[in-house]
Amino acid sequence: MSEPILAHRAVLLQEAVDALALRADGTYVDATFGRGGHSRAILDRLGPAGRLIALDRDPQAVAAAGEIRDPRFSITHAPFSELARVLDSAGVAQVQGVLADLGVSSPQLEDAERGFSFRADGPLDMRMDPTRGVSAADWLATATEQQMREAIGGYGEERFAKQVAKAIVDARAREPLRRTEQLAAVVAAAVRTREVGQNPATRTFQALRILVNRELEEVALMLPQAIRRLAPGGRLAVISFHSLEDRLVKRVLRACSEDRLPPDLPIRARELPQAPLRITGKARRASAAEISANPRARSATLRVAERTGAVFDESILDRIGPEPWRS
Ligand SMILES: C[S@@+](CC[C@H](N)C(=O)[O-])C[C@H]1O[C@@H](n2cnc3c(N)ncnc32)[C@H](O)[C@@H]1O
Repeated sequence: MSEPILAHRAVLLQEAVDALALRADGTYVDATFGRGGHSRAILDRLGPAGRLIALDRDPQAVAAAGEIRDPRFSITHAPFSELARVLDSAGVAQVQGVLADLGVSSPQLEDAERGFSFRADGPLDMRMDPTRGVSAADWLATATEQQMREAIGGYGEERFAKQVAKAIVDARAREPLRRTEQLAAVVAAAVRTREVGQNPATRTFQALRILVNRELEEVALMLPQAIRRLAPGGRLAVISFHSLEDRLVKRVLRACSEDRLPPDLPIRARELPQAPLRITGKARRASAAEISANPRARSATLRVAERTGAVFDESILDRIGPEPWRS
């Protein structure tokens, strides 16, 4: 039987759930419910005393979670940058694991009315949470050419960011850019080379999506909250889908897992301050079989770390700088 069009096929499902090393009676967070592939797999492995607290910023994802009737499960409509607040409202101080499967879901990408797709015409919105923030169309209507160039170059890693920004400014002087098809045509005319198998609008759409949803800032705000709330031995598992996101995750996990003393200091190992995280294993990618069944898995990277018993001093993150996704 074919899947319903607006289903989401979870990526690295077993790998991510295994990485959480679930305890049957533990309390876990799924920070990105989506359509609940990971949440359901976690619930399957929890015992009666286990608990799963889910979040999603998309009201449609939260509505879809209504299908899960399980007293161990709850969901909150919130961005994961508000993780600590959500846990406080649930009366939960510490958790045994946090999973974040970043980015957008297939239902978001495939519903033309959400405005994420350059393949199908729709309103140029791109907000995962349409109840908050500014749509892509509204941002493009007021941003300066320089702001567009920086966003498209920085978040889309688009070599022709300058030309694309100029083309958008010229186009919006003729008529407002309100539809995805309009924007895709403007970008296609400005991007001179073609990457094999890639639509010329791919990078610009990615950039606008990251910008409109403040995706990297969200991750940068969520990770320290997750680390702070993990109990010793608790696991953090993050799946990212593009290089900026993965760079940010990698840098935060590394900064929190390195000791901060020069290696030649004359002190005993047990006197060394322990790092708050221990990275468990290498970054994992999807298998060839998974990628052939689900091409979206091609760009997924799973990184996992375990909380130690050491104090987490957030100043440890100062050394990775203000925009740690930049190369
Ligand atoms: C890749 S999908 C997750 C799919 C899910 N693991 C599953 O198996 O169905 C990402 C989901 O995270 C949500 N999301 C992305 N960024 C978020 C954020 N900052 N806060 C809360 N939810 C977010 C999106 O709305 C989307 O539903």
